[in-house]
Amino acid sequence: MESNKTLGEFIIENQQEFKYSSGELSRLFNSIKLAAKVVSHKVNKAGLVDIVGGVGGKNIQGEDQQKLDVYANDIFIETLINRQIVCGITSEENDDFISVQGSDNSNTNKYILLMDPLDGSSNIDVNVSVGTIFSVYRRISEIGTPVVLEDFLQPGINQVAAGYVIYGTSTMLVYTTGHGVNGFTLNPAIGTFYLSHPKIKFPEKSTIYSVNDGNYTHFPEGIKDFIRYCRQEGEDRPYTSRYIGSLVSDMHRNMLKGGVYLYPNTRSNNGKLRLLYECNPMAFITEQAGGKASDGKSRIMEIEPQSLHQRVPFYSGSIKMVEKVEEFIAKSK
Ligand code: AHG
Ligand code: MN
Ligand code: MN
Ligand code: MN
Repeated sequence: MESNKTLGEFIIENQQEFKYSSGELSRLFNSIKLAAKVVSHKVNKAGLVDIVGGVGGKNIQGEDQQKLDVYANDIFIETLINRQIVCGITSEENDDFISVQGSDNSNTNKYILLMDPLDGSSNIDVNVSVGTIFSVYRRISEIGTPVVLEDFLQPGINQVAAGYVIYGTSTMLVYTTGHGVNGFTLNPAIGTFYLSHPKIKFPEKSTIYSVNDGNYTHFPEGIKDFIRYCRQEGEDRPYTSRYIGSLVSDMHRNMLKGGVYLYPNTRSNNGKLRLLYECNPMAFITEQAGGKASDGKSRIMEIEPQSLHQRVPFYSGSIKMVEKVEEFIAKSK
């Protein structure tokens, strides 16, 4: 049945669940949803307008920036700065954090936003789903003063909200404030998000594993063992392998259908995904949907961040499957 509850109505109805002042968070969500609609509109026109391809520069990650990476980044940042909603922003596409204080330090907002404005950039040119990931914290430094690095280097357990937008066959906004996960689908004809996926939970039966198999040779032994286990005959096995190459899309599918997402470390790196604006928000959503998120040993959300663009190995999904990954890692040592 089609829901007629809008995202705006849902936020107002559930404000009491939010332990801090509510108005500010509602305004923040209004800005996120506005920026998401603008990006969604642009994504849908990719191929028609000049938005596909690289800009010819690299971001701090050493990745070729795509036009849509830059566009989405600018839209989210402008939307938030113009409305003076947050006091600080950090993004995958920016070297350093942005302080949103106003010229006279008059900004007394309490929240900071961390984001991956366009996740899955490599999929833009080939018409495959991409996303936006965001994470919200309360600042820890004094209100009214410029934000400092420590405000952004908080462990994921301090998140007050996190979510993602998936620009897929339809555009959806999925978020949590620590009281479960709810998903809203955009009706593009009228530009409104409607509650379509209330109280999302990982299904009991989970049979999907998602990993970039091309990197198999470089994976730690425990991960190779887990992948072999997924492929073996057994109860519910062999599992189904699904990998889009866009964290948002892979996690979204696994959360709805049941599965685990893996981005392991290799001999030469500590994984690819960024703790602050990819792993922590996805971990918060995963846990709130009844799943588990780990770096192979520890809970993702308890890691003390050391730097803005820090990378960690990431295993996230149904509890049983993530526990199995941890078990294989522990056994291989
Ligand atoms: P981004 O496009 O924001 O840089 O993120 C890319 C990430 C993530 O979306 C995806 O899961 C992963 O990179 C895919 O990496 P591989 O191409 O190495 O599999
Ligand atoms: Mn990137
Ligand atoms: Mn990403
Ligand atoms: Mn990105």
